[in-house]
Amino acid sequence: MTGIHRPLRDPAVNAVIEKLVAAQQYPAGDPRNGLERDPHEYSDYGFSISPEQGDLIYLLCRGIRATRTVEFATSVGLSTLYAAAAVRDNGGGTVIGAELVPAKVAAARRNLADAGLADYAEIREGDARVTLRDLGGQIDFALIDGWLGAEPSLAREVIELVAPHLRIGGYVLNDNAEPDFLAWIRDPANGFVSVALPLHGGTELCVKAAERER
Ligand SMILES: C[S@@+](CC[C@H](N)C(=O)[O-])C[C@H]1O[C@@H](n2cnc3c(N)ncnc32)[C@H](O)[C@@H]1O
Repeated sequence: MTGIHRPLRDPAVNAVIEKLVAAQQYPAGDPRNGLERDPHEYSDYGFSISPEQGDLIYLLCRGIRATRTVEFATSVGLSTLYAAAAVRDNGGGTVIGAELVPAKVAAARRNLADAGLADYAEIREGDARVTLRDLGGQIDFALIDGWLGAEPSLAREVIELVAPHLRIGGYVLNDNAEPDFLAWIRDPANGFVSVALPLHGGTELCVKAAERER
């Protein structure tokens, strides 16, 4: 990543980001395209966001002065690093992360500690559809970066759980462009305005402009 201008300037955080980016590996074929694949069989694979998506998370969270964010899912914590750095740089706060696979939860916690960001994230182990039921208050930003599978997708189930807690003006960033997620977020009755960005094969950037119509 040398030579590219990036918004996040903390050398300790960037060292961990660079390590994770360099370690990214992909299994033969894309397991996320198989319906109902078991995430536990892929504990060695991060399936992480791209650095460009991470820069966007950091920038958006700084711009809206985010102090409480949520992410589905955490994996090894690459996306968590960007959001946690932003809430720290905004004066403090928490990223609530969700991850099913215990080995990934442990890796994410280690990576956050190595980056000096352990105090700015709470990684909840288990099924996000359970662990994210109680968000403890209003949320400024949500990453929906889940596991592809049958419909309804996890992304769709999680956005319906999280959206009521997102503040007006809060952002959602979706990687993977799950069709049923896009159908929900683009339905004006749900209160969001969104745009498809040409990042990482399809990234939907969404802002909550109104509460959901009843
Ligand atoms: C695309 S990866 C997330 C990458 C992460 N945002 C990053 O940038 O490093 C999706 C993750 O979802 C996890 N996962 C799958 N089903 C889940 C569930 N029901 N609840 C929580 N996590 C789940 C997988 O183990 C996998 O690590």
